[in-house]
Amino acid sequence: MDLYEYQAKELFASHGVPTLPGAVVTEPQGAKAAAAELGGPVVIKAQVKTGGRGKAGGVKLAETPDEAETKAEGILGLDIKGHVTRKVLVTTASDIADEYYFSFLLDRANRNFLAMASVEGGMEIEEVAATKPEALAKIAIDPIQGVDKAKAEEIVAAAKFPAEVADQVADVIVQLWDTFVAEDATLVEVNPLVKDPQGKIIALDGKVTLDENAAFRQEKQAELVDKDAENPLEAKAKAKGLNYVKLDGEVGIIGNGAGLVMSTLDVVAYAGENHNGVKPANFLDIGGGASAEVMAAGLDVILGDPAVKSVFVNVFGGITACDAVANGIVQALQILGDEATKPLVVRLDGNNVEEGRRILAEANHPVVTVVDTMDGAADKAAELAAGA
Ligand SMILES: Nc1ncnc2c1ncn2[C@@H]1O[C@H](COP(=O)(O)OP(=O)(O)OP(=O)(O)O)[C@@H](O)[C@H]1O
Ligand SMILES: [Mg+2]
Repeated sequence: MDLYEYQAKELFASHGVPTLPGAVVTEPQGAKAAAAELGGPVVIKAQVKTGGRGKAGGVKLAETPDEAETKAEGILGLDIKGHVTRKVLVTTASDIADEYYFSFLLDRANRNFLAMASVEGGMEIEEVAATKPEALAKIAIDPIQGVDKAKAEEIVAAAKFPAEVADQVADVIVQLWDTFVAEDATLVEVNPLVKDPQGKIIALDGKVTLDENAAFRQEKQAELVDKDAENPLEAKAKAKGLNYVKLDGEVGIIGNGAGLVMSTLDVVAYAGENHNGVKPANFLDIGGGASAEVMAAGLDVILGDPAVKSVFVNVFGGITACDAVANGIVQALQILGDEATKPLVVRLDGNNVEEGRRILAEANHPVVTVVDTMDGAADKAAELAAGA
C-alpha cells in the first residue's frame, strides 16, 4: 500500500526524522486557516499517490493565508496523471540551501535491501540514474545486520555528502531505517532531503510503500487506508478474501493458481491483438479449492466491472478435480441468476477433465462456451469482448 506524503511524513516524524509542521485540508478555506495557524509563507502540496506533482502544478508557494486559499483552490481537483487531488497539505515553507535524495527499498532482483543516495536531489531520480549514474550511490543492506550509525556513515561517504551535514544525514538515515523496519515498508524515499540555510537537515517530501503481507502485525496501519480512494471493485474483492487486481482491459479473468492466472493474462493480451486490441480486465486467482461459493464470489466481482465484456475462466484441475470445478461454475451461475449476462468462456484441463466438460455440456447454460485449449479459449474470449 502506497501512502500519501503527509502520512509518510507522520511516520517519519514518529521515528525521529525531522519534518516540517503542516495540516491536511480538503477545502480552500481550510488552507487559509491552516496557513494563518502556521504563520509565514507556506507550501500547498497536492496529496496524490503519484510522482511528479511539482511539474504538474501540484506544489505551490503561498506568502499569505489569502494566497494559500487561492493556490489551494487551484490545486484541489487538479488531475495529476489520472489521480484527482482531493486533499492538499499546507506546510511551512523552508528556504533551501541544498537538495539531496535518499531511499531504502526492497531490491527484488538481488533478494536484498538497497540504500540509494545522491547529493543531486530535487529532480527526478530516474533522470539522475539515467544521465549521471555515478551521482547515485547504491549500497546493499544486509537485512540481518541492518543499518547502524557506522553503516549510515558508509552510505554518506559513498554518496559524497558534504562534510558539514554528514553527521546529521547519517542520523537521519538510521531513523529512516528504523521507519523502514518498524513499519514493514518496502520503500521509504525522501526527495528532496534538504539542508536549510541554517544547515539543518529536513525531509521535505516523503514516499512510503507498506508491505500488505505484514498487515496482520501492523494493526495501527489499517487507519492509513484511504477508503474513498480505494478502487471499489478491489475493496469488494478484498472483503470477500479474493486475490484480485483491477487492470484496464475488457476480458475478465478467473483462474486457479497465481502462475496460471499470470500466463492467462499473457495469452489474452496476445489474442487481443487480433481482436481490436482488447486486454485482460483483471487478475483473479481463486486458489486451489475452487468451490462454488468462491467461484460465485469471483464472478460477482468481475461481472460488476462495467468494463468487462467477456469472462475467461481458466482452471487446471489438480487436487480439486475438474468435475468439482464444473459443478462450482454451474452452481455459481445459479447463485448469480440474472446477473450472469456476459459471455463466459471456460477452459478446463487436468484431473477428471472429461467429467468436468460433460457436466458443463449437460448444464448447457446460455452464456457458457467451453473451449478445450488455453489459446483457443483466450481467442474466443477476446473475440467475444471485441464484438460486444
Ligand atoms: N515545504 C517546502 N518548502 C519549500 N520548498 C518546498 C517545500 N516542499 C517542497 N518544496 C519544493 O518543491 C519541490 C517539489 O516538492 P516535492 O518533492 O514534495 O514534490 P515532487 O517531487 O514534485 O513530487 P513527487 O515527489 O511526488 O514527484 C521540492 O523539490 C522543493 O524544491
Ligand atoms: Mg519529491
